[in-house]
Amino acid sequence: MADLSVNICGVEFKNPVIPASGVFGYGREYEELFPLSKLGGIATKGTTITKRTGNLSPRIAEISSGMINSVGLQNPGIDYFIDTELPNLMTKDTVIIANIAGSTVDECVEIARKLDNTDVHMIELNISCPNVKQGGAAFGTSCTSAENITSEVRKATKKPLIVKLSPNVTSITDIAKAVESAGADSVSLINTLLGMKIDINTRRPVLKNNVGGMSGSAIFPLAVRMVWQTANAVNIPVIGMGGISSGKDAIEMMMAGASAVQVGAAIFTDPYAPVKIIDEMNEWLDSKNIKSVNEIVGSVEIW
Ligand code: SIN
Repeated sequence: MADLSVNICGVEFKNPVIPASGVFGYGREYEELFPLSKLGGIATKGTTITKRTGNLSPRIAEISSGMINSVGLQNPGIDYFIDTELPNLMTKDTVIIANIAGSTVDECVEIARKLDNTDVHMIELNISCPNVKQGGAAFGTSCTSAENITSEVRKATKKPLIVKLSPNVTSITDIAKAVESAGADSVSLINTLLGMKIDINTRRPVLKNNVGGMSGSAIFPLAVRMVWQTANAVNIPVIGMGGISSGKDAIEMMMAGASAVQVGAAIFTDPYAPVKIIDEMNEWLDSKNIKSVNEIVGSVEIW
């Protein structure tokens, strides 16, 4: 068996496969299916300062080769997360990554401060959220606001800080460089692509929010391209995500430059997807006689 362990920002992962934020809740439904200790890590649902009930339904719809969602960050708030969910997660022998999804810089800073006083292993800052104090544009769509929120959250915590990037930008590498300069220890990408689906019979968008984030295998080549570009633009580890649904996809993403991968939409069609991906990666590495998964990171040979 190949060695699947990876080290990201000084944190040891037994393998590079992490269910992405928003698709795995806090793991409670999945631990009935398989031991969570099989996973490299778990990125938890984005937490805001107070409880959010999320957007009105319908807020998830299927599309060709994927899905579109506008859940609206439904979550129980940071205090509930720290008091009720985190203690259970910390017993699971896997890396716990707490995802922060505030709508102001101050909110993200306050959440980061609270998490800094816990045992959580890493923090992932979602900068795709709308900045309500700046007209609703997502923090991650300008270098200035991405840099500003990263540097303020950086001051609030000593935990390894991953910044999760939005693909809905002109140049994701510029945003990645901006957050790296502001103190991010790692970047994860890509979050969902803004999309829209219309029911032609009712002439209504299928989502109550009209638009939503597109994910699933349809976006995989876009994600691979952005991960490859970003990995070549920054000196911090890149965590790749976007449409990964097999071990071969995970290998491809790592060849593009990802040091680990997150699995999102695939979990909705197959809750065992992360475990199958780990097994398939192992089989592929063994079939090529590759001893460590680290050997494939960034190994794509460009024409
Ligand atoms: C949501 O809960 O609406 C998803 C958040 C995200 O994609 O960043």
